[in-house]
Amino acid sequence: MMPPKEEQFPADKVAFAVVGCGSIGRRHLAVIDEESRAGLAAFCDSDPKVLDETARLYPGVPCFTDYGDMLRGVDFDVVNICTPHGLHAPMAIQAAQARRNALVEKPMALSPEDCNRMIEAARLNDVLLMVVKQNRFNVPIALTKMALDSGMMGRIFMVQCNVLWNRHDGYYNDSPWRGKKLLEGGALHTQASHFIDLMIWWFGDVTEAQARVETKNHSIEIEDCGTAQLQFASGVMGSLTWTTCVYNKNYEGSITIIGEHGTIKIGGQYLNKIEVWDVRSLPLPEDTAFTDKPNSYGKYQGTSSNHDKVIGSVVAALLHERHNVIEGDEGIRTIKAIDMIYSSAQLQARRAPRLAASGDKSQFRRIAEPLQPAALTYAAARAKDEESHEPNSASL
Ligand SMILES: NC(=O)c1ccc[n+]([C@@H]2O[C@H](COP(=O)([O-])OP(=O)(O)OC[C@H]3O[C@@H](n4cnc5c(N)ncnc54)[C@H](O)[C@@H]3O)[C@@H](O)[C@H]2O)c1
Repeated sequence: MMPPKEEQFPADKVAFAVVGCGSIGRRHLAVIDEESRAGLAAFCDSDPKVLDETARLYPGVPCFTDYGDMLRGVDFDVVNICTPHGLHAPMAIQAAQARRNALVEKPMALSPEDCNRMIEAARLNDVLLMVVKQNRFNVPIALTKMALDSGMMGRIFMVQCNVLWNRHDGYYNDSPWRGKKLLEGGALHTQASHFIDLMIWWFGDVTEAQARVETKNHSIEIEDCGTAQLQFASGVMGSLTWTTCVYNKNYEGSITIIGEHGTIKIGGQYLNKIEVWDVRSLPLPEDTAFTDKPNSYGKYQGTSSNHDKVIGSVVAALLHERHNVIEGDEGIRTIKAIDMIYSSAQLQARRAPRLAASGDKSQFRRIAEPLQPAALTYAAARAKDEESHEPNSASL
């Protein structure tokens, strides 16, 4: 019999459990630890070595190698899903069925169909399904949103987005899931999803995409270079270029907005700087402090580390103070856009066929195995789905 949450945590504290204690899971654990109105109820990682290392940092906190055991064994409010992308959907669905709210790392899932299943499971079980979009809290991003909402930029004509990053061979080779189509999906899911989210937030859904992807410089099943022409619902024209092939180190993550009365370029390595701000009647406040920091993963740096603000908003929502969490219906918009871009790239590749790189199903099964039967059935169905699709010649 699981001890009720109230025995461990006062009513004004939100109890979190984390699944996946890797690079980003560790950041979630640290933020929960620091947030005075949050408590850590449990954590889980299928890798016993990772679990042991984590247990040393959080002694006395119940820990599990099996996700189902954690859901059954501990009472808590929210599970933070920090596992490889392909596990987000089955784990969020399992959480909803156990009547737990979920905070899912980006990308929400690998397909719009999976997102819909997650949303439906949360609705049926009356729980929240929230998605991490910490870049929306970045200082330059919030300033840009303010400028766009003010109307001072006039009509917006175009947006140009560059994600020009370096990911060395070890980044893929040392991971059981990176570079694997069934677990990672594509570089858009990993490297570009934050950027796509922001453009959709500002300019509406992507309504058309024309794209091309290639794998040029890594031995992986997904693309490492891509370009896409995009059309947004508001009429804004867009272009997106992404790669993990930049020599030596990350070069740029930038978004440039061309408007009737203004130009803004947000840059830095993780959308942390304003490089150009030229907006009629709306100068950049001189005392603006650019305080965003990167998430550091040892060998490489990723996007901004505003996870404290995300956890703060989850706490505020669950304590019924304010509701500004990003939910599944918002998260799915990015996944639909990514799906549209890859579909266009596949079409393009069929016109100019190249060698197909098929997904290694054994990797997917190995990682999915620690999941409970419901998720295993789900994983098997996904693998079958994939097998029945015609070969993907776009080498995603
Ligand atoms: N918001 C951001 O900016 C951001 C940054 C980094 C990562 N992420 C996301 O977080 C997720 C994880 O990325 P990462 O870099 O931490 O990966 P990682 O490989 O470092 O960590 C994943 C962890 O999940 C564990 N795991 C795998 N299968 C499991 C299972 N069935 N049950 C329990 N644990 C399991 C692994 O053992 C590993 O420790 C990805 O979806 C990624 O996109 C988001």
